Amino acid sequence: MRRNRSSEAVRALVRETRLAPEDLIQPLFVHAGEPEEVASMPGVRRHSVTSLVEECGRCAAAGIRAVAVFPKIDPARKDAVGSHAVADDNVLYAAVRAVKAAFPGLLVITDVALDPYTDHGHDGLLSADGTEVRNDETVAALQALAVKEAGAGADIVAPSDMMDGRIGAVRAALDAAGFERTLILSYAVKYASAFYGPFRDAVGSKAGAAPLDKRGYQMDPANVREAALEVALDEEEGADIVMVKPAGPYLDVIRAVREATTLPVAAYQVSGEYAQIHAAARLGWLDYERTRDESLLAIKRAGADMIFTYFAREVAEGWKRPGSHS
Ligand code: PBG
Repeated sequence: MRRNRSSEAVRALVRETRLAPEDLIQPLFVHAGEPEEVASMPGVRRHSVTSLVEECGRCAAAGIRAVAVFPKIDPARKDAVGSHAVADDNVLYAAVRAVKAAFPGLLVITDVALDPYTDHGHDGLLSADGTEVRNDETVAALQALAVKEAGAGADIVAPSDMMDGRIGAVRAALDAAGFERTLILSYAVKYASAFYGPFRDAVGSKAGAAPLDKRGYQMDPANVREAALEVALDEEEGADIVMVKPAGPYLDVIRAVREATTLPVAAYQVSGEYAQIHAAARLGWLDYERTRDESLLAIKRAGADMIFTYFAREVAEGWKRPGSHS
């Protein structure tokens, strides 16, 4: 075995998995205000529209093909039904228009979910007694949001809410509004995960001190067969790409999904995975760059065609082009 590991040249020859900038999607946050740091995500900012456009320029220059833009909404604009989602002055639409005007070739992905806009932080509309997220009412709101995002110029809309039937409904709404060319990237297999904590800080979707319980719609971390069923339904309903989220703790799920569908598979290395590596590196307990790169390679090896990761730009910038020697 060791002959095939004897030098970097031999190792490069027999290497089975490679990461390239075009595999990576950069999630970015935007708000109506000056740029500010997100405490639990070192190096990540809530951008102004201007600094967001600048950051997109750096991503494009590094070879990144797609960014995912998430809004942080002023708490004063939130309500129980998330009505600001489809308001013309939602900062998300200004952001998408500005990025597409500056970099028409850079793909812009937007989340289709109500959690940035609801005062309770759930991804949908609550029942009168507040104990349940209503499915079909939420799906109708998501249709309107997706059409509005496509109208602002989003190339890919990404339902991340985990309501039933939303992929088919969003596809029909997009087609009816003339957005036949807008892709749907479904957060098909999204777990009720504790690893989303820092993201909820970043977009301010934490309603109170208690963790938000999304187990009534997001998947149980104990399940993997169910992932294949989620993917089959979304495929039938017209998803163009399916996603598994989180990524690192769910490599077996990525593999299972890869084997269950011929669609492209995305994986989302979430905020908590990013924060973990930063925290351990800060304490001097892990080597930052090597851990970061290994975490991404493992996700690709498991079967992901593309990876949403907060490390995207810095990894792409450090990427050695074919022909370079090391
Ligand atoms: C919202 C959404 C979440 C993430 C992406 N879209 C959080 C949640 O469902 O609570 C998580 C991303 C991350 O943790 O990096 N629908």
